[in-house]
Amino acid sequence: MENGILKGKKGIIFGALNELSIAWKTALAVHREGAQIVLTNTPVALRFGSVGELAKLCDAALIPADATSVADLEALVDAALEHFGGKFDFVLHSVGMSPNIRKRIPYEDLNYDYFDKTLDISAISFHKLLSVLYKKDALNQGGSVVALTYLAGDRCVSGYSDMSDAKALLQSICRTFGDIYGRHNGVRVNTISQSPTLTSAGQGIEGMESMYEYASRMSPLGNADAQDCADYIVTLFSDYTRKVTMQNLYHDGGFSSMACCPEDLKLKV
Ligand code: NAI
Repeated sequence: MENGILKGKKGIIFGALNELSIAWKTALAVHREGAQIVLTNTPVALRFGSVGELAKLCDAALIPADATSVADLEALVDAALEHFGGKFDFVLHSVGMSPNIRKRIPYEDLNYDYFDKTLDISAISFHKLLSVLYKKDALNQGGSVVALTYLAGDRCVSGYSDMSDAKALLQSICRTFGDIYGRHNGVRVNTISQSPTLTSAGQGIEGMESMYEYASRMSPLGNADAQDCADYIVTLFSDYTRKVTMQNLYHDGGFSSMACCPEDLKLKV
């Protein structure tokens, strides 16, 4: 699949860590469709990860930024404006991490310093990013910003712990900033609620493999994988979705509309 629907567009992609990352697949997909990109991740992830290889494959600039640091985000946006020779068209926020989940601390006993970090990295960073982009007037008219979320932001999914709260906040920031951006210069802001996906972040969740299997059985189309997600993001960065904004868009093979799994109930479908 290659349609050149992003020809002439430019943007920043956060969160490519390794070949499994949703952002990694997205970088390759937007490059395939003709876009120019800047890749970013934390200085540590860039130093020790394989993102340099991805940058070569996509002919992309690589600029470090901790997404929780306003100073880093300002420097990143300035560098991107210089690199592209002016404003750009899209940004992907594919960033998330919970120290509480990493350390297997149960929800009823959260460490509150870690909870602050979860919210800062996984949600407030999105506000910081949108705010820096706005103040620097960095996005072209009709641009598009996408962040990744999960169903646990609107329904209870056992084991997703404080990431559920972070995702709920992320989705709310999307709506509130979407209103401001839409009126300002027609920039769209959306979240994609993605199927369980076997990435580094995904595999950190306890019970992820059984949730993955369960979701796959429940979803009429099966789970959406990272490549499917990348292709969906391409459409959201394109001009074909210019009136879609402030939405939480389910990209989950139909999972979120199902009440039970026909296979488990032994129903013939
Ligand atoms: P991943 O582990 O490949 O990506 C997470 C990225 O966040 C990494 O590149 C990491 O370096 C980056 N990151 C962490 N702290 C950061 C910081 N302070 N500043 C900048 N970057 C930072 O995993 P994946 O699955 O590709 O995750 C991407 C997004 O998709 C996350 O928001 C995740 O919550 C979301 N998502 C993942 C699902 C899954 O099952 N894997 C399902 C639904 C949503």
